[in-house]
Amino acid sequence: MIGPIIAPEDRLPRTLVVTNDFPTRQGGIEAFVAALSDLFPPGEVVVYTASMPGDAAYDAELAYPVVRDRATTLLPTRRVRRDVVAAFREHGCDRVLFGASAPLGLLAPALRAAGAQRIVALTHGHEVWWARMPVTRRLLRRIGDEVDDLTYISDWCRDEIGRALSPAGRAKQRRLAPGVDPDRFHPGCGGAEVRAGLGLDPGVPLVVTASRLVERKGQDMLVEAWPAVRAVVPDARLLVVGDGPHRRTLEHRVRTLGLDDAVTFVGARAWKDMPPYFDAGDVFAMPSRTRLHGLEPEGLGIVFLEAAACGKPVLVGRSGGAPDAVDDGVTGFVVDPTDTAEIAARLCDLLTDPARARAMGALGRERVVRDWRWEQVGATCREYLDGQTVSDAV
Ligand code: GDD
Repeated sequence: MIGPIIAPEDRLPRTLVVTNDFPTRQGGIEAFVAALSDLFPPGEVVVYTASMPGDAAYDAELAYPVVRDRATTLLPTRRVRRDVVAAFREHGCDRVLFGASAPLGLLAPALRAAGAQRIVALTHGHEVWWARMPVTRRLLRRIGDEVDDLTYISDWCRDEIGRALSPAGRAKQRRLAPGVDPDRFHPGCGGAEVRAGLGLDPGVPLVVTASRLVERKGQDMLVEAWPAVRAVVPDARLLVVGDGPHRRTLEHRVRTLGLDDAVTFVGARAWKDMPPYFDAGDVFAMPSRTRLHGLEPEGLGIVFLEAAACGKPVLVGRSGGAPDAVDDGVTGFVVDPTDTAEIAARLCDLLTDPARARAMGALGRERVVRDWRWEQVGATCREYLDGQTVSDAV
């Protein structure tokens, strides 16, 4: 049977999302790319990504196709280029969204030759590193020259990444900051149950932190600050959500400082189980700091948006674009991430004045619901893919 003849101009646009970063792996770029992919209208997106544990079960729940390459990390090799181009053609795509610009943006010329009419590449904190090192800097410049739009998550990242780009590449920089789903992350989304499960009374002053446990996220400084916090708020507890290479060091330091009864590690949690942990605390804190002479900054920090959406005041480290995630003094505090005294003082301010903490949290939720929703981010991203853009950077 012959189907209806569809003129090319009547065909739905279809975007191939090419990305290393996608669930089931955990992290900010993964959260960003998954949220954008979920927001495409039915039939308008296909994801090409790497293999990872539990992927088949995850993909089976999605409303769009996911092609899993056999590799666990995609690099722009000849073989991957061939397979990505084949998927682009097989699924009738006409646009490309790179989940991160580096390194897969190097596939842009092959996809252009295969018929991609628009190519948008996201950048994150990760590309700041690429922009600073001599060899990767040249590659990033090339990527900027090949794509149509190169997005950035904060003004700080725009400027850092812009230094590596040609004038033509800089003119393609557009803002696309991450967001949050305020229907998933909201006050009362399960924090009481988390507390009950951990044996914490509703009145126990609780600070929550959540991330991959790597040094730059600053959980070590929270632990160092804790004796000073406890001197003022003796029953204060710290809940650490997430896992990573720094966990053992953190646990060791907690033992050395005699804080076993004050600090609880719950490990990594599944995506769907994250919101209640943000809701469980009175305060969310992650004093991220820039490491390796500027190579490892915080690009923005989706966790701050998630905590704010749950109505929590946030404590943010002054690193990269992270201060954009908070209205300092209104919805939380920006602190020097190397200063345990300042970290402890700000935490004590919030823990000893719960009414003020709740008021700041409420303003934080108002702020993210107004300006930081994934829906808005998805709509902007689709405008970029449609080519409805004017330069917003110099
Ligand atoms: N499932 C699960 N389990 N998710 C977790 C866990 C966990 O144990 N811990 C943290 N997450 C989630 C958070 O809820 C959030 O959605 C995401 O992982 C972390 O995102 P970010 O706070 O943004 O940090 P990142 O370092 O992983 O992300 C990078 O890219 C982001 C997007 O551009 C950084 O450059 C960020 O600064 C940037 O915002």
